Amino acid sequence: MIIAIDGPAAAGKGTLSRRIAEEYGFHHLDTGLTYRATAKALLDAGLPLDDEAVAEAMARKVDLAGLDRTVLSRHEIGEAASKIAVMPSVRRALVEAQRGFSHRKPGTVLDGRDIGTVVCPDAPVKIYVTASAEVRAKRRHDEIVAAGGSADYTAIFEDVKRRDERDMGRADSPLRPAEDAHLLDTSEMSIEAAFQTAKSIIDASLSRNA
Ligand code: DC
Repeated sequence: MIIAIDGPAAAGKGTLSRRIAEEYGFHHLDTGLTYRATAKALLDAGLPLDDEAVAEAMARKVDLAGLDRTVLSRHEIGEAASKIAVMPSVRRALVEAQRGFSHRKPGTVLDGRDIGTVVCPDAPVKIYVTASAEVRAKRRHDEIVAAGGSADYTAIFEDVKRRDERDMGRADSPLRPAEDAHLLDTSEMSIEAAFQTAKSIIDASLSRNA
C-alpha cells in the first residue's frame, strides 16, 4: 500500500503525512529531505551547486535512514535543494532510492512534488494538498513566531511564490497534480479537518482494494 502526497511548499503535506503514517502504522518518507540532504552535503564539502555530475554523485550517497528534519529544515538548505532539484540525473538517483523505500511493508506514505506523477505513478491513493500562497506564507510565518523567532510576512510570501515558480516551472518532473489525485485545498481547513478528509479518502481506497 503506497500513499502519495504531493503539493507546493508549506501546504501542510509534512504534518498531514506524518499523521497518516502514524494512523495506519506505515513508514513515512519526506522526499524533500533527500534533495535537502544532497544540497547540504554539497554545501558542507564546499562543492558547487551547479555541477550536475558532482551533485548526482552526492545524491547517490544519501542515506535515507540518516535524514534529520531539524538540521535540514534551514532556509538556505531549502534554497540550495530547489537548485539541484532541477537536475535530471540528481532526480533519477533520488527517485530510485525513493522507489526502493516505497515498497516497505506493511505500507508507506511518501510526500513531495512528483510522487503521484513520477516516483509512484501506480500508488492506489494520491492526494494533492494545496492552499493559497497567502495562507501558506501566513502558516510559515506563525510557525516561526510560535517557535520564538522573528519573521517578515512579506519576505516569506515572496519566497513561497518564488519556490512555487521554480517547482512548477522546471522541465523535469514539474509540480502538478496527477490526473487521478484527490485535490485537498486546506486554505480554510484546520489540520484536524484536513486529516479527517484524507483519512476518508484512504479508507475508501483501502476497502476497494481489500
Ligand atoms: O518540500 P521541501 O521544501 O523540503 O523541498 C525542498 C526542495 O526539493 C523543493 O524546492 C522541491 C524539491 N523537491 C522535489 O523537487 N521533488 C520532491 N519529490 C520533493 C522536493
